[in-house]
Amino acid sequence: MSLGILKITSRVRRRCCLGLMLPGFDEKLHHAGAGTMDGVRGPGARAGASEGLGLRFRITRVYMITGLAFLGPAWWCLIRAAPAIARGAWADPLLLAAVHLFVVGYALTTVHGALLQITPVAFQGHLYSVRLGYVQYVLMVLGAAAFPVGFLSGRWAVAATGGILVFAAYGLLLWNLGRTALTLKKRGEALRSAPVFVFLFAALLFGIGMALGVPLLGRASLLLHMVAGVTGWFTTLILVLSPRLIRVFVSSRHPGFERRGPELVLMAGALLIAAGVSLVPAPGQGVSKGLWGPGSFLVGVGSVLYLIAYGSFLFHLFQHLRYRRRRDLEWVIPWIAAGLAAGWPLTAAWGAAVWKAAGTGRTAGPMLLGMMLLVVFGFLGWVIAAYMAKILPFLRWMSKYGHGLTPVTRRAPGQRPVGVRDMMPKVSTILALLGFAGGAVLLAAGAWSGREEFARIGAGVGVLAWLVYAGAMWVMYRR
Ligand code: HEM
Repeated sequence: MSLGILKITSRVRRRCCLGLMLPGFDEKLHHAGAGTMDGVRGPGARAGASEGLGLRFRITRVYMITGLAFLGPAWWCLIRAAPAIARGAWADPLLLAAVHLFVVGYALTTVHGALLQITPVAFQGHLYSVRLGYVQYVLMVLGAAAFPVGFLSGRWAVAATGGILVFAAYGLLLWNLGRTALTLKKRGEALRSAPVFVFLFAALLFGIGMALGVPLLGRASLLLHMVAGVTGWFTTLILVLSPRLIRVFVSSRHPGFERRGPELVLMAGALLIAAGVSLVPAPGQGVSKGLWGPGSFLVGVGSVLYLIAYGSFLFHLFQHLRYRRRRDLEWVIPWIAAGLAAGWPLTAAWGAAVWKAAGTGRTAGPMLLGMMLLVVFGFLGWVIAAYMAKILPFLRWMSKYGHGLTPVTRRAPGQRPVGVRDMMPKVSTILALLGFAGGAVLLAAGAWSGREEFARIGAGVGVLAWLVYAGAMWVMYRR
């Protein structure tokens, strides 16, 4: 009897210790996945569950570290693309290689890995298959690597092949998440966010078309490709997931939006922008009827809707921060929130540039190029890196210390594991985030002013920021 009581108190003590070290998101992430078998079906449900969870944690780490490996070469290519940025040469091979190393190699790979982790946590269910996730991974990496090869060698068919591989990875992701959706408790909420995948479909389709020399919508193809990829897919997905993630991170009392939320307005806005952009006339058909023609009108209305919904997401996000249960706020969370808040005026400026391009038919001017660089390398770069600085240390901590821990109170001081919040070096991570943002501002300044040195210094700052960020990750892995 007394032995039993001892065992129970020790178990409770161990839970308390874990609770202290893994606040908010961490507990929920752990428990939400605790029933996950992820292909480890067999005898020993508890051991299998923990192993399955470990597998899911590992696959996201693999995706994210791979994404990070693409980020450095992307900024490096930008140094060499500086003259092209200053000239406004959109189709320059180095610029194309840099942009796709970033959007496909870094951003899309990281987001794919994050979705495999976040979907079962944010919407409460079990990931269908980790193994399928690795097949997706191989396709993504091969596809992403084909882009610089194809663009730099001038063989766009190679880039198109890369696009097709990425498209196949996208198909597998949909299948994996679709099967996962069958297990989700908050399935309705997840399905409301699902239309965002249509934008990635459009971005990939138009990209492959252009690489094969068959621009599906003539002159509008590039603008539509960019709007669908940057705004319709990346920005929308980040916005849809952010309040849900922040809510879990800080354990918020604010109810959020289980039954209805601004997702549909956001996606309707993105759809109108894309529809407006697709009305940009082909060469020889004359320019659309100025800034108030049907194309720019749709872009304008869509942008307003999009920004209203964006504001609503930000409002909920800050309410979560305000009504959090845990008074102490992990240092990285304000940096994630700051990036998302700064994204609002940037998205507004990007919308204005697209509106002007749709109205005037000048879809390749320096203003649009600068805005694209700012939104992609600044906004997306910052937010993805900040989220990674929150998620990766936790996944690493769990694999190193999370299972079968001796209670902290029974360890010698030197043997106590570093707390999950202290895994990621703070100062160097913040410096890296500021470096990415500063680098992107200088890139944009280079495009707007036509001064090559601005773009070159900006890209150099980006490379340095990447080195600092990768160093911080390395330190985190060794802790
Ligand atoms: C979500 C993923 C993607 C995003 C956000 C994206 C974004 C962009 C951006 C911003 C540009 C303009 C860069 C410049 O012209 O300098 C661009 C151009 C281009 N993209 Fe993508 N891209 C994505 C995926 C793809 C894929 C899968 C392909 C397939 C091969 C592709 C093929 C192209 C091509 C061929 C161009 C150049 C078009 C031209 O200049 O005529 N992209 N993309």
